[in-house]
Amino acid sequence: MRKTDKNSIIEELQKSYSMELETVMNYLANSINLDGVRAEEIKKALAADVAEELLHARQLGERIKQLGGQVAGSLDLKLEQKALQPPSDSTDVIAIIEGVLEAEDAAITEYNKIIRQCEGNDYVTQDLAVRLLSQEEAHRVLFEGFLKEYRKK
Ligand SMILES: [Fe+2]
Ligand SMILES: [Fe+2]
Repeated sequence: MRKTDKNSIIEELQKSYSMELETVMNYLANSINLDGVRAEEIKKALAADVAEELLHARQLGERIKQLGGQVAGSLDLKLEQKALQPPSDSTDVIAIIEGVLEAEDAAITEYNKIIRQCEGNDYVTQDLAVRLLSQEEAHRVLFEGFLKEYRKK
Protein backbone atom coordinates (compact mmCIF):
# COMPACT_ATOMS: atom_id res chain seq x y z
CA MET A 1 0.00 0.00 0.00
CA ARG A 2 1.30 3.48 -0.83
CA LYS A 3 2.17 5.60 2.15
CA THR A 4 -0.23 8.37 1.15
CA ASP A 5 -3.09 5.86 0.81
CA LYS A 6 -2.25 4.35 4.16
CA ASN A 7 -2.14 7.72 5.86
CA SER A 8 -5.45 8.80 4.46
CA ILE A 9 -7.03 5.51 5.58
CA ILE A 10 -5.61 5.99 9.08
CA GLU A 11 -6.99 9.50 9.14
CA GLU A 12 -10.45 8.32 8.14
CA LEU A 13 -10.32 5.54 10.74
CA GLN A 14 -9.48 8.14 13.38
CA LYS A 15 -12.57 10.06 12.39
CA SER A 16 -14.72 6.92 12.65
CA TYR A 17 -13.18 6.12 16.02
CA SER A 18 -14.12 9.57 17.27
CA MET A 19 -17.67 9.21 15.93
CA GLU A 20 -18.13 5.84 17.63
CA LEU A 21 -16.96 7.15 20.98
CA GLU A 22 -19.20 10.17 20.75
CA THR A 23 -22.09 7.83 20.00
CA VAL A 24 -21.18 5.81 23.09
CA MET A 25 -21.26 8.96 25.23
CA ASN A 26 -24.60 10.15 23.92
CA TYR A 27 -26.36 6.78 23.89
CA LEU A 28 -25.16 6.26 27.44
CA ALA A 29 -26.39 9.67 28.62
CA ASN A 30 -29.76 9.27 26.95
CA SER A 31 -30.17 5.70 28.16
CA ILE A 32 -29.97 7.13 31.68
CA ASN A 33 -31.75 10.47 31.27
CA LEU A 34 -34.99 9.49 29.59
CA ASP A 35 -38.12 9.30 31.75
CA GLY A 36 -41.49 7.66 31.40
CA VAL A 37 -43.18 4.44 30.37
CA ARG A 38 -42.69 5.14 26.68
CA ALA A 39 -38.97 5.62 27.20
CA GLU A 40 -38.28 2.23 28.78
CA GLU A 41 -37.75 0.24 25.56
CA ILE A 42 -35.66 3.00 24.04
CA LYS A 43 -33.47 3.15 27.13
CA LYS A 44 -32.88 -0.59 26.93
CA ALA A 45 -32.06 -0.46 23.21
CA LEU A 46 -29.64 2.43 23.76
CA ALA A 47 -27.94 0.67 26.65
CA ALA A 48 -27.43 -2.43 24.50
CA ASP A 49 -26.02 -0.29 21.68
CA VAL A 50 -23.51 1.37 24.00
CA ALA A 51 -21.71 -1.97 24.24
CA GLU A 52 -21.84 -2.51 20.47
CA GLU A 53 -20.62 0.94 19.55
CA LEU A 54 -17.79 0.67 22.06
CA LEU A 55 -16.75 -2.57 20.39
CA HIS A 56 -16.78 -0.75 17.04
CA ALA A 57 -14.41 1.86 18.49
CA ARG A 58 -12.13 -0.89 19.78
CA GLN A 59 -12.01 -2.65 16.40
CA LEU A 60 -11.27 0.63 14.62
CA GLY A 61 -8.56 1.46 17.16
CA GLU A 62 -6.94 -1.93 16.67
CA ARG A 63 -6.87 -1.44 12.91
CA ILE A 64 -5.37 2.06 13.34
CA LYS A 65 -2.62 0.49 15.42
CA GLN A 66 -2.00 -2.29 12.87
CA LEU A 67 -1.58 0.31 10.16
CA GLY A 68 1.06 2.08 12.23
CA GLY A 69 -1.10 4.87 13.58
CA GLN A 70 -1.83 5.89 17.12
CA VAL A 71 -5.24 5.89 18.74
CA ALA A 72 -6.31 9.33 19.93
CA GLY A 73 -6.91 10.36 23.53
CA SER A 74 -9.92 12.35 24.60
CA LEU A 75 -8.45 15.76 23.81
CA ASP A 76 -7.93 14.79 20.19
CA LEU A 77 -11.48 13.61 19.63
CA LYS A 78 -13.64 15.72 17.40
CA LEU A 79 -17.09 15.91 18.90
CA GLU A 80 -20.00 17.28 16.92
CA GLN A 81 -23.13 15.18 17.43
CA LYS A 82 -25.61 18.00 17.99
CA ALA A 83 -28.75 15.93 17.37
CA LEU A 84 -28.07 13.61 20.29
CA GLN A 85 -27.64 16.14 23.06
CA PRO A 86 -30.05 15.27 25.88
CA PRO A 87 -33.32 17.19 25.31
CA SER A 88 -34.57 19.61 27.97
CA ASP A 89 -37.77 17.53 28.16
CA SER A 90 -36.59 14.17 29.49
CA THR A 91 -39.70 12.45 28.14
CA ASP A 92 -39.04 13.58 24.57
CA VAL A 93 -38.37 10.09 23.24
CA ILE A 94 -38.96 11.05 19.61
CA ALA A 95 -36.17 13.65 19.69
CA ILE A 96 -33.79 10.93 20.83
CA ILE A 97 -34.94 8.42 18.24
CA GLU A 98 -34.43 11.04 15.54
CA GLY A 99 -30.99 11.81 16.94
CA VAL A 100 -30.12 8.11 16.87
CA LEU A 101 -31.22 7.84 13.24
CA GLU A 102 -28.99 10.80 12.39
CA ALA A 103 -26.03 9.21 14.16
CA GLU A 104 -26.60 5.86 12.44
CA ASP A 105 -26.91 7.58 9.07
CA ALA A 106 -23.64 9.40 9.69
CA ALA A 107 -21.96 6.09 10.55
CA ILE A 108 -23.41 4.44 7.43
CA THR A 109 -22.09 7.27 5.25
CA GLU A 110 -18.71 7.05 6.94
CA TYR A 111 -18.29 3.28 6.47
CA ASN A 112 -19.42 3.47 2.85
CA LYS A 113 -16.74 6.09 2.33
CA ILE A 114 -14.08 3.85 3.87
CA ILE A 115 -15.20 0.87 1.79
CA ARG A 116 -14.70 2.90 -1.39
CA GLN A 117 -11.45 4.40 -0.16
CA CYS A 118 -10.00 0.95 0.54
CA GLU A 119 -10.94 -0.56 -2.80
CA GLY A 120 -7.85 -1.90 -4.51
CA ASN A 121 -5.48 -1.22 -1.65
CA ASP A 122 -6.63 -2.31 1.81
CA TYR A 123 -9.03 -5.25 1.96
CA VAL A 124 -8.61 -5.86 5.67
CA THR A 125 -9.85 -2.38 6.58
CA GLN A 126 -12.50 -2.71 3.91
CA ASP A 127 -13.73 -5.96 5.47
CA LEU A 128 -13.96 -4.28 8.87
CA ALA A 129 -15.90 -1.37 7.38
CA VAL A 130 -18.33 -3.78 5.68
CA ARG A 131 -18.99 -5.56 8.97
CA LEU A 132 -19.51 -2.30 10.85
CA LEU A 133 -21.75 -1.02 8.06
CA SER A 134 -24.03 -4.04 8.33
CA GLN A 135 -24.40 -3.51 12.08
CA GLU A 136 -25.16 0.20 11.67
CA GLU A 137 -27.80 -0.65 9.09
CA ALA A 138 -29.38 -3.06 11.56
CA HIS A 139 -29.41 -0.33 14.23
CA ARG A 140 -31.07 2.04 11.82
CA VAL A 141 -33.82 -0.42 10.95
CA LEU A 142 -34.52 -1.05 14.64
CA PHE A 143 -34.85 2.65 15.44
CA GLU A 144 -36.83 3.38 12.28
CA GLY A 145 -39.33 0.84 13.57
CA PHE A 146 -39.45 2.58 16.95
CA LEU A 147 -40.04 5.91 15.26
CA LYS A 148 -43.00 4.54 13.27
CA GLU A 149 -44.64 3.30 16.41
CA TYR A 150 -43.90 6.31 18.60
CA ARG A 151 -45.15 8.81 16.05
CA LYS A 152 -48.58 7.15 16.17
CA LYS A 153 -49.15 7.73 19.85
FE1 LIG B 1 -20.97 1.93 15.49
FE1 LIG C 1 -24.88 2.05 15.48
